[in-house]
Amino acid sequence: MALLIKNGTLITAAETYNADILVEGEQITQIGQDLAHPNAEMIDASGKFITPGGVDPHTHFDLPMFDTVSSDDHYTGHKAAAFGGTTTVMDFVVQEPQGFRHSVDLWSEKAQKAAVDYSFHMNLTHMDDSVAADIPTLRDMGITTLKVFTAYNGRLRLDDGGIFRALRIARENGMLIMSHCENGDVIEQLIPSALAAGHTTPEWHALTRPAWGAIESTLRMCALAQQADSPVYIVHMNVGGEADMLQYARERGVKVMGETCPPYLFFTIDELRRPDGAKWICSPPMRTANDNSRLWDALKSGGIQTIGTDHCAFFFDGTKPISYEGNQISIPGKELGNDDFTKIPNGLPGVQDRLPVLWTFGVGAGKLSANQFVALTSTNPAKIFGLYPRKGALIPGADADIVIWDPKKRVEYGLAHSHQRTDYNLYEGWELTGYPQKVFLRGKMIVDGEKWLGKTGDGKFLKRGDGQVL
Ligand code: URP
Ligand code: ZN
Ligand code: ZN
Repeated sequence: MALLIKNGTLITAAETYNADILVEGEQITQIGQDLAHPNAEMIDASGKFITPGGVDPHTHFDLPMFDTVSSDDHYTGHKAAAFGGTTTVMDFVVQEPQGFRHSVDLWSEKAQKAAVDYSFHMNLTHMDDSVAADIPTLRDMGITTLKVFTAYNGRLRLDDGGIFRALRIARENGMLIMSHCENGDVIEQLIPSALAAGHTTPEWHALTRPAWGAIESTLRMCALAQQADSPVYIVHMNVGGEADMLQYARERGVKVMGETCPPYLFFTIDELRRPDGAKWICSPPMRTANDNSRLWDALKSGGIQTIGTDHCAFFFDGTKPISYEGNQISIPGKELGNDDFTKIPNGLPGVQDRLPVLWTFGVGAGKLSANQFVALTSTNPAKIFGLYPRKGALIPGADADIVIWDPKKRVEYGLAHSHQRTDYNLYEGWELTGYPQKVFLRGKMIVDGEKWLGKTGDGKFLKRGDGQVL
């Protein structure tokens, strides 16, 4: 089966040019002018933009949290990703006491319903001699990345010695440590003080997780990485000062890379002060307008390498069912913390929103070039996480993960457009110009306008190899 996409404007991380794309089977086989094929299905992409499918390096589907579970699973979250132009997602496996093999098997079981391609990172939340010895076995499972936490004391956090040990093992085995950077000790002091003083509202989530903790922890992680002679990747950067720390460390030869997420570019602690502020509760929290603009600056200047979503959706009011694919569904959500901000499940929806929102409010607003947009949301994550050039590229030999954008399409965005399985959208009423029109996963059209042509089981697990340090 062949597909010929004619006359489109291709946007890659490096350049923008007009060309035809020939797809045979699951791969791009030719890119060039005036391509022909005797029996290919033809799509005229005149006036349209074409990008590689988005690669989201950071999602949490079907993740147990507090007394509930994140509301998108490995099907609904994948479907939502596809409608937003993302065809590869990387999800975090919970580390179980029975070992990595068991943990990965459990997550693989959940991900059987995948609708786009996916891979896994491993959460490293417990370290001892046996865990340390087992880390290299993850490579055989196609998992070359581990996430550590400097917060969530007694639950997810490793101490600095454990993190340093993990960094050294990662370096010896060509793996990459990713880090959630906040100061867990300070947070554990501030939360009980706030509650004792009767502060229970969502803004206290941010006030008990100070920006300086994220900044200090980011620098600490850079220092640990340098001492272990290892690269490191800072997830969900949210403060301008973290970008400063990356610059400081990179200028001194530390192999540190960073990721931010759209909410940290658009929202502030003021959102948490709204009556529906729980909708914006995630960790790390929303910061200030100054942080928003400094993160944009770091993206523009190359100081931050990727934009992921940290998609971890919950219902705002999980007592009221919504209709999803004709079924009524409700999952306990943010209302669990109506009387206590520490009980609000942490996380935001965004796997569908990422590309369309960034296209209008990043590229359209002149904050990023179209090529930077592709680099940050597709090509760089593919390179860093060992999927390039199979993913993140429009070149012969790459998987035919292709997004055809209608640059003129105007959308009043929000819940009505979203396939994320939750009852709210952070970008409700935002006016978008330009939207994915057709999305292909390995040559198969899975989204055509409003039509869903994908299905559960279409997504393949991607075993990853060595990544690049950007
Ligand atoms: O609030 C968030 N981000 N929840 C997901 C877990 C994490 O730390 O990424
Ligand atoms: Zn995190
Ligand atoms: Zn996360």
